[in-house]
Amino acid sequence: MFEEAQYFAPVSAQDDGSVVVELATSHPGFADQVYRARRNAIAALAVNHRQGEPIPAAEYTEQEHRIWSLISHELAIKHRKYATAEYLEGASRLGLPTDRIPQLQEVSELLEPLTGFRYLPAAGLVPLRDFYGVLADGYFHSTQYIRHHSVPFYTPEPDVVHEVIGHANALANDRFAALYRLAGAAARRVESDEALEFVSKVFWFTLEFGVMAESGELRAYGAGILSSYGEIEEFRGMDIRPLDLRVMGATQYDITKYQDVLFRAESMRHLEDVVGAFWETCDDDSIAELQAGVISR
Ligand code: TRP
Ligand code: FE
Repeated sequence: MFEEAQYFAPVSAQDDGSVVVELATSHPGFADQVYRARRNAIAALAVNHRQGEPIPAAEYTEQEHRIWSLISHELAIKHRKYATAEYLEGASRLGLPTDRIPQLQEVSELLEPLTGFRYLPAAGLVPLRDFYGVLADGYFHSTQYIRHHSVPFYTPEPDVVHEVIGHANALANDRFAALYRLAGAAARRVESDEALEFVSKVFWFTLEFGVMAESGELRAYGAGILSSYGEIEEFRGMDIRPLDLRVMGATQYDITKYQDVLFRAESMRHLEDVVGAFWETCDDDSIAELQAGVISR
């Protein structure tokens, strides 16, 4: 789980007050100076933001708005085929713009009256305990930059498309919003790093990459599948396993590729009964017992 850190580019505040985002040489935007300047400026907004203040507007180029529009269009078609009913209900309630990148402040204002969730800007990696913990209070940390235009269908680096199309549409649904809050409460309750990693893995295999049976078909509700129009075409062919907390806790994943091991809930109710109930009650001891169960098999 903690390997996720490497896919957030390091952000450093300079003495002159500016902020520099270090993109790896392999990043598709590495040599694009216009993109780099945008990334630095957007990271500075998050670094200087204080909770409770409105989220400052990011300046996006016309090309960036066109990327959003292209991805929105591709995903809308695929969501009708592949997304679960509860996610689609959230999306229709939220009503995101499709022709331009919405500002995070705007997303927050659309979302708050629906489920109470608000967005917070994040410059890069947020420590896991904070990232998950504030979900309990209805806050969602979000990146604000958009993926490089040369590779629109998938990015290993979470961007505003993922945070907003993937997560905000789910957060606009009452049942998913309740699950996100429970994940946050669990992250606050557990003490050891091992237990936190377990809670976070369950989040990864459900709210990020979960799939669900619906009317005899396999559909996706995980934000990571629903924000990538490349990955969304592939999930039905992956290794699909029953919803099992122990197995999730013991399964490794590679954040740079399409996820090849996925866990299937039999219904929304099943997800709530297994994963919701786990987050609602888990603590260090119950997690250690779950993990011991896996080892003794
Ligand atoms: N791959 C996702 C997309 O293309 C974005 C993403 C990057 C992501 N890292 C992630 C999603 C980690 C979930 C978890 O939209
Ligand atoms: Fe995510």
